[in-house]
Amino acid sequence: MATTVITNISSLVTNDPSLGEGTLGLIRDAAVVIDGDRVAWVGDTSKAPATDNRVDAEGRAAIPGFVDSHSHLVFAGDRTAEFNARMSGQSYSAGGIRTTVAATRAATDAALEANLLRYLREALRQGTTTQETKSGYGLTVEDEARALRVAAAHTDEVTYLGAHIVSPDYADDPAGYVGLVTGPMLDACAPHARWVDVFCEKGAFDGDQARAILTAGAARGLIPRIHANQLSHGPGVQLAVELGAASADHCTHLTDADVDALANGRTVATLLPGAEFSTRAQWPDARRLLDAGATVALSTDCNPGSSFTSSMPFCIALAVRDMGMTPDEALWSATAGGAAALRRTDIGHLTPGTRADLALLDAPSHVHLAYRPGVPLVSAVWRAGVREV
Ligand code: NIG
Ligand code: FE
Repeated sequence: MATTVITNISSLVTNDPSLGEGTLGLIRDAAVVIDGDRVAWVGDTSKAPATDNRVDAEGRAAIPGFVDSHSHLVFAGDRTAEFNARMSGQSYSAGGIRTTVAATRAATDAALEANLLRYLREALRQGTTTQETKSGYGLTVEDEARALRVAAAHTDEVTYLGAHIVSPDYADDPAGYVGLVTGPMLDACAPHARWVDVFCEKGAFDGDQARAILTAGAARGLIPRIHANQLSHGPGVQLAVELGAASADHCTHLTDADVDALANGRTVATLLPGAEFSTRAQWPDARRLLDAGATVALSTDCNPGSSFTSSMPFCIALAVRDMGMTPDEALWSATAGGAAALRRTDIGHLTPGTRADLALLDAPSHVHLAYRPGVPLVSAVWRAGVREV
């Protein structure tokens, strides 16, 4: 199996405190050896073993590839008009999802797949090497199952979100729709997904409905995650912790009890600043969660309605500027934090044995991701040991 050494890395984030400075396990003047799809060695450039191929990083920084643990990339159409209206003063509501449902149902499989590949490639160019993505714009048995089939062909991290909103076809029978989501739709979707998700919010699903949907999914082997407390206070976060969900996502409106529950449970708080940016909503308070001891992940929530960005560097910049995170904390949350939200130990870190997913930055350190917002700093990306960018 071919080996590659990347030398002259000005600062390498390993996310392993035993290997270097601080929580990020930072190594200066570092090298990384890749053997096949795995990291074989990390350490000082001066001690790097000889290998078949040598890549000189010329003083660039290196970080683990970003782990984007929350996106909605199986869709058709866009919502430019809705965004324009919002920027003229209208507020965001879950109702806009219906526009994308109509466009997605009308699209061919090939069109959906081409759109997904476009955004996966866009994210990869910006350093994302693991991309979770969801269904949720089909809302029929056939359309949800096909969204998951399309997603599963291109990522291992696939989430069944039949409970995004009550399907317009069931507008007068929400209980009937919950029966569909927990019955025939779950039967058709469970084989293609790893996770089950629900949008727990006014205008979508209440706490009892969310509990029924997540419990039914768990009984079929899907691990719960949840859209919680995005637009208002509600039961989502507490439910997530009670059910042992992997992640509670958004966490914008939290009571002290919600923060305590996250700090004391094993559910990761996944913050999605692209959504607050694009809906002009209040920022989630990352500082409050970190100070309480919660595990925080950062993700894009890339979708055509509330957050049409695939850029993890952009989310890092927002989290540092507006959510009280330090650049080190934001980098950790966008890599190791995302891995924790996906219950993965093979990604989000650069230590011997982990998957060789890394990005080089045209910058002397990862801090520049927040210090130089909007600048395309990712200059090379390896995924599973393969140079992709
Ligand atoms: O995570 N909150 C629910 N779902 C998406 C928005 C989807 C849409 O507006 O199309 C979100 O923000
Ligand atoms: Fe979302």
